[in-house]
Amino acid sequence: MKHPICVNSDCKICESSLCCTKINNFGVKRSGIEILKNVNLHIHCGDLTAVIGPNGAGKSTLLKAILGEISHTGELQFLDANNGTTKPSMGYVPQKLDLDSTSPTSVLDLFAAAHTNLPIWFTYPKKIRERVRESLALTHGEHLINKRLGELSGGELQRVLLALALDPVPHLLLLDEPVSGIDQKGLELFYQTVSTLRKNYDLSIILVSHDLNLVAEYANRVAFVNNRTIECCGTPQEVFTNEKVIQTFGLDWSNRFQRVEKDWVANALLV
Ligand SMILES: Nc1ncnc2c1ncn2[C@@H]1O[C@H](COP(=O)(O)OP(=O)(O)OP(=O)(O)O)[C@@H](O)[C@H]1O
Ligand SMILES: [Mg+2]
Repeated sequence: MKHPICVNSDCKICESSLCCTKINNFGVKRSGIEILKNVNLHIHCGDLTAVIGPNGAGKSTLLKAILGEISHTGELQFLDANNGTTKPSMGYVPQKLDLDSTSPTSVLDLFAAAHTNLPIWFTYPKKIRERVRESLALTHGEHLINKRLGELSGGELQRVLLALALDPVPHLLLLDEPVSGIDQKGLELFYQTVSTLRKNYDLSIILVSHDLNLVAEYANRVAFVNNRTIECCGTPQEVFTNEKVIQTFGLDWSNRFQRVEKDWVANALLV
């Protein structure tokens, strides 16, 4: 299922007339302390927007506010194909999840609870099993269907949660450091899966990550959260050459982007 293409013309930063999720002037206070203020972000269908920033900057808070899990000021709009405004459907993979390792709940139970009203002791119909297996196959996790949640490794659990977040495919997928427990092979698989989903479903993705190399490789937009707001947003090249970002992360990536530019020129000459 592809999301509809938006013809909304008042989206100023939309370069290609795609549908758009707008975060307008978000602010969050917790226990009376201002965590985020004046946060503005536009995300177009097919965009992979990476959210970067130091520990405690407010990245997870931003995702939870977008989800509606914590209260915020400002508004969230999804502009659809008919110039209409709706609430976007969302999938979410949290930064951490506290699971009872002794619980008998299986991966199949988790999906069934999300999609049916069947009690846990019920023998699930074959078509439910097949649907769950298909969902898990998206993240190469179909072999995990009968495992107990408590016995999954960190990386396996993240695959299951990503598959669950994608069933049904949402307008907006929110991933909070979803690969923190995944090994190198799983990491590449994860980013390839996310890239394929992006293309196939025109999915908007917001990914919080501390892995700046992978962000530079896979994201097409980057938002830098610092001092309680988004201090800069743009292409990876724009953000990673921004003075505030360089200072915060101690980066010297000038050569990296020069090299990429040289590669582009070399590739262009080969065509
Ligand atoms: N329930 C709460 N009450 C008060 N302050 C909170 C609460 N939850 C989070 N905070 C504070 O909000 C700030 C932002 O936290 P958040 O978890 O969003 O940071 P983060 O950017 O995701 O950090 P990390 O990279 O370590 O995951 C922190 O200073 C944190 O202590
Ligand atoms: Mg966080």
